[in-house]
Amino acid sequence: MTLNIDQLLTELTLEEKASLTSGSSFWYTAPVERLGIPRIMVSDGPHGLRAQPGEGDHVGLGGSLPATCFPTASAVASAWNPALLSRIGQALAQEARACNLSVILGPGINMKRSPLCGRNFEYFSEDPFLAGELAVGIVGGIQSRGVGTSVKHYAANNQETDRLRVDAQVDERTLREIYLPAFERVVKAEQPWTVMCSYNKVNGQSASENSWLLTTVLREEFGFEGLVVSDWGAVYHRVPALRAGLDLEMPPALGRSPEAVVAAVQAGEVKSEVLDARVRKVLELVAKGMPVLDLDESFDPEAHHALAREAAAESVVLLKNDGLLPLPVDASIAVIGEFARTPRFQGAGSSQVTPTRVDVLLDELRAVYGDVPFAAGYGVGETVDDEALLAEAERVAGSADTVVMTIGLPGADESEGFDRTHLDLPANQLAALRAVAAVNPNVVVVLVNGSTVVLGDVTVHAKALVEAWLGGQAAGGAIADVLTGAVNPSGRLAETIPHRLEDNSSYFNFPGDSQVVRYGEGIFIGYRGYDKASQEVAFPFGFGLSYTSFTLSDLTVTTRGSVAEGTFGAQVRVTVTNTGTVDGAEVVQVYVQDVDSTVARPVRELKGFAKVSLPAGSSESVSIELDQRAFAFWSVEQGRWAVEAGDFVIGVGANSRDLPLTETVTVEAPRLAVPLSRDSTLQEWMNDPTGRDLIEKEIANGQSAAAMDEELLGVIGNMPMSTLASFGGMSLDHDSLDRVAAAWREQVQVS
Ligand code: BGC
Repeated sequence: MTLNIDQLLTELTLEEKASLTSGSSFWYTAPVERLGIPRIMVSDGPHGLRAQPGEGDHVGLGGSLPATCFPTASAVASAWNPALLSRIGQALAQEARACNLSVILGPGINMKRSPLCGRNFEYFSEDPFLAGELAVGIVGGIQSRGVGTSVKHYAANNQETDRLRVDAQVDERTLREIYLPAFERVVKAEQPWTVMCSYNKVNGQSASENSWLLTTVLREEFGFEGLVVSDWGAVYHRVPALRAGLDLEMPPALGRSPEAVVAAVQAGEVKSEVLDARVRKVLELVAKGMPVLDLDESFDPEAHHALAREAAAESVVLLKNDGLLPLPVDASIAVIGEFARTPRFQGAGSSQVTPTRVDVLLDELRAVYGDVPFAAGYGVGETVDDEALLAEAERVAGSADTVVMTIGLPGADESEGFDRTHLDLPANQLAALRAVAAVNPNVVVVLVNGSTVVLGDVTVHAKALVEAWLGGQAAGGAIADVLTGAVNPSGRLAETIPHRLEDNSSYFNFPGDSQVVRYGEGIFIGYRGYDKASQEVAFPFGFGLSYTSFTLSDLTVTTRGSVAEGTFGAQVRVTVTNTGTVDGAEVVQVYVQDVDSTVARPVRELKGFAKVSLPAGSSESVSIELDQRAFAFWSVEQGRWAVEAGDFVIGVGANSRDLPLTETVTVEAPRLAVPLSRDSTLQEWMNDPTGRDLIEKEIANGQSAAAMDEELLGVIGNMPMSTLASFGGMSLDHDSLDRVAAAWREQVQVS
């Protein structure tokens, strides 16, 4: 059965239309039985389904049907592999089809502005390009199986503190370059069925009522054709939200919102065409989601568990390895750390999944190495009996050649709903690590955490250091696969690990106060901030080791097209060779730096990458395309993306701070004509060839050439011309300034 939407729009009553713009219950759209419009179900979430059998709740308090818990976003982002995300997406879609669920509420693609954000485990990266590519992978995978997605939370939802009220004050360039591109990329590439607007305000206006975000940018500029749904409870005023472009309110404010919509249409405050446009989007979504309602399908939990294990292993980032890993087949090991026995593998809140089963690292290692000794070493969330736990850990540590020790964040430390206040690991865990390392220097530390922690002397005590993140239900097996060498680690950091929280650029402005957070660091978040401030970091963005080694060679960069026509781009070619003795995968990363810029730009920005699997000893030539956007910045003055003429350095390497191959390309581009006026400064006029020429001529007609004196220019260059004209002294009075400004407008044809 299909819906004839044009016909339905003529048959629906005003009340029915209004009812369709809210759901009917927590997870369902509103049906109109009289006209054969069914309700469809939507549900979380990003790394596994949280389909609730009953009417449900949204913060994970109620149970949900068993589903495969795949690695959380921060984990799987470290795989730098959109194709892997596509496969996970297809599996998620199959699980959705099996419970007749039409739309999955994910992925979460907000930027990690601060490592403190409690929901960072649900987000991919501090880099918009990487987040966008990964979003394309998972959205494409899910939707290829006839199930919808909801990319969330649009926009500037980068903290949990006061998330329903906080006003994120972000300048437009920063929004355009950092906080919106992942949404833009996935909308243009995959047309997600829905976009979920966030709870917070953006520059004074709730996201749900922000017509600039929902209509101007999302629909008119990005070309979004799907439906905008509210985050659960993010509609504060239904009628303004409807006008701004919010199609569907979830969960419904029954008895309030539909009535308000009816009254507003009757009073002429909302045009009926506006309501029809919103209803059309709801009907289109229902039409797309309907086929899932009739399915009688199942999924293969074993196959999905195997995929979860593969994905978790590919998500692991090997941070340090002084020769301990991989463990030999006959290794004598002891296992220490409560997390090895009681796994922490996902975060809390709306994304929390009821797993189909859970792998336990200790069991997995015992399956390989026999009955290895174990000590908890520390308590999770409490410190009672630490002395006894420490003594036991020391004893066990001394009984084997190598210790595998898990440490990480307790579940209570990071979750939806609140932010962390520091990045430290629990003191009792660090004490246990020190005690263990004092007894046995051969310690492999496995980190279990949803978002970055500061490592301090962990890096000193660990001879090998493995970042395993929150790897989902199969993490235990996956970590064992990496430790034994069954899987050669190929994860790369999707977020920087700083030495100190204070080094992060959001430090002074996170999480704000008095319901306001100012994004004062602008575009310089994540590595863009650390690089700009020349901060040493513990492990840079893009970093990750392997059990083999790689070299990159033969870089060529071939440019094409023209900036003026919007067709400029470059092809980056490089040869990657596996120079070691085991098969492995390298992530070739391409960063772009604008050397000659008139605006502040990051030292480098990720603009391309490719994950390449290579048998030991083999080589492959890799080609990565850069489009014009890869060179552009958002020009506030022009209100558009702009590329400036001059040199750009293309850096290619293994992480953001290891770019051994570089090539400089010189880009030709039309001069960016900053509109000059009476109120532009003398310096701005002097920077513009036409402006300089006009001013010089005008002044030459008078008596003084003061404006051309470089020393004087330094002193008065920042003054608006209109002020200088008032001062007298220069030969440019108000009349001649008007003349010059008019001549400039005519010559550069700016209206
Ligand atoms: C979360 C969303 C989630 C929704 C439904 C909200 O609190 O922010 O990410 O999809 O609840 O559970």
